[in-house]
Amino acid sequence: MAAQQTNHFFLSAILLLSIAVVSSKAALDAHYYDQTCPQAEFLIAQTVRNASIYDPKVPARILRMFFHDCFIRNKAEKDGPPNISVRAFYVIDDAKAKLEKACPQTVSCADIIAVAARDVVAMAGGPRWDVLKGRKDGKVSKANDTKTLPPPTFNVTQLIQSFANRGLDVNDLVTLSGGHTLGFSHCSSFVARLHNFTTFQKTDPSMNMGFASMLKQKCPNSNNNGDAGQFLDSTASQFDNDYYKQLIAGKGVFATDQGMYNDQRTRSMIEAFANDQDLFFKEFAASMIKLGNVGVNEAGEVRLDCRKLN
Ligand code: HEM
Ligand SMILES: *[C@@H]1O[C@H](CO)[C@@H](O)[C@H](O)[C@H]1NC(C)=O
Ligand SMILES: *[C@@H]1O[C@H](CO)[C@@H](O)[C@H](O)[C@H]1NC(C)=O
Ligand SMILES: *[C@@H]1O[C@H](CO)[C@@H](O)[C@H](O)[C@H]1NC(C)=O
Ligand SMILES: *[C@@H]1O[C@H](CO)[C@@H](O)[C@H](O)[C@H]1NC(C)=O
Ligand SMILES: *[C@@H]1O[C@H](CO)[C@@H](O)[C@H](O)[C@H]1NC(C)=O
Repeated sequence: MAAQQTNHFFLSAILLLSIAVVSSKAALDAHYYDQTCPQAEFLIAQTVRNASIYDPKVPARILRMFFHDCFIRNKAEKDGPPNISVRAFYVIDDAKAKLEKACPQTVSCADIIAVAARDVVAMAGGPRWDVLKGRKDGKVSKANDTKTLPPPTFNVTQLIQSFANRGLDVNDLVTLSGGHTLGFSHCSSFVARLHNFTTFQKTDPSMNMGFASMLKQKCPNSNNNGDAGQFLDSTASQFDNDYYKQLIAGKGVFATDQGMYNDQRTRSMIEAFANDQDLFFKEFAASMIKLGNVGVNEAGEVRLDCRKLN
């Protein structure tokens, strides 16, 4: 399949998967599959671990996929630019195939993503939590909602609003942004800060100057195609609090990340997490459970193929 076709295919898969009816109250359960599929979590963990050995990009992509799946659960990600994480969707397919063999028509794709996201965080040295399960997959293949994914150009007010639209507060925003302790960004997501920030300042003044010159070397002009980019913190395969330390040093990759350090509403939390990794881990686990409750659909179906409606 041509690359573009593949991308479209993956995108529609995620899109279909993510569209569900928002129910007012989530009633998910850590023991949801205890009777019906006791081996579910083991099979997912095994698949994720194996895939991550073959491709170290998998953990970050799965974590990001979970964020997107929760945020766009009730909407069509029609023209949203950020769809790179979908490249790890084959891991969800592999887990689904194993689960359909072990316990047919039982474990939803949305639950597989939620468990896989917990597993990649734990595998990378982060906290572990009990994943609440019992989500159904969306049945509706078309939605029209104004709430889309936040772009990396949002200011803090817009970020807070975007999270509040899903019932997540400022604390969740700062905490979940710590997901940027894993992974990588392409130039296109931050290049606007480097060469042509405003008429008066070519470079975003909130950036550490050495860091900015380093990024300019990696992304020398406004139209860098291809794979060039930057890891999101200096220990990008390790789940730790380094992301927050980098923000204090002016080395946040996205304007959104750095913006949170420069805003009174969010700065003290960043300082607290930079000083206390255990606190960050504890909060991250709690906020991931909240994120996993966003737009939960209990009235959909259990997909047989995570890319298609039954
Ligand atoms: C607060 C608003 C957020 C914005 C504006 C944002 C934006 C972005 C952007 C632009 C990228 C880079 C895409 C690329 O160029 O390839 C990215 C990557 C990533 N994001 Fe976020 N993000 C946000 C929140 C989150 C949250 C809540 C999580 C998870 C809890 C998360 C996890 C990740 C991960 C793991 C990557 C790296 C993906 C990879 O290595 O392929 N992000 N994000
Ligand atoms: C492990 O991952 C590789 C690469 O994705 C795949 O080819 C292989 O079938 C996987 N093995 C198991 C046991 O899942
Ligand atoms: C997803 O990414 C591919 C290239 O990586 C792009 O061609 C496609 O238009 C993107 N889709 C959306 C909806 O942004
Ligand atoms: C989608 O939403 C836009 C703006 O809210 C509206 O103008 C349009 O008619 C809607 N389309 C559908 C198919 O509902
Ligand atoms: C944030 O962005 C919105 C939309 O562009 C703008 O109306 C608002 O004034 C901005 N807020 C701050 C604090 O910069
Ligand atoms: C900088 O941005 C302005 C406004 O978007 C644009 O007109 C100008 O061509 C850009 N300059 C460069 C060197 O990219």
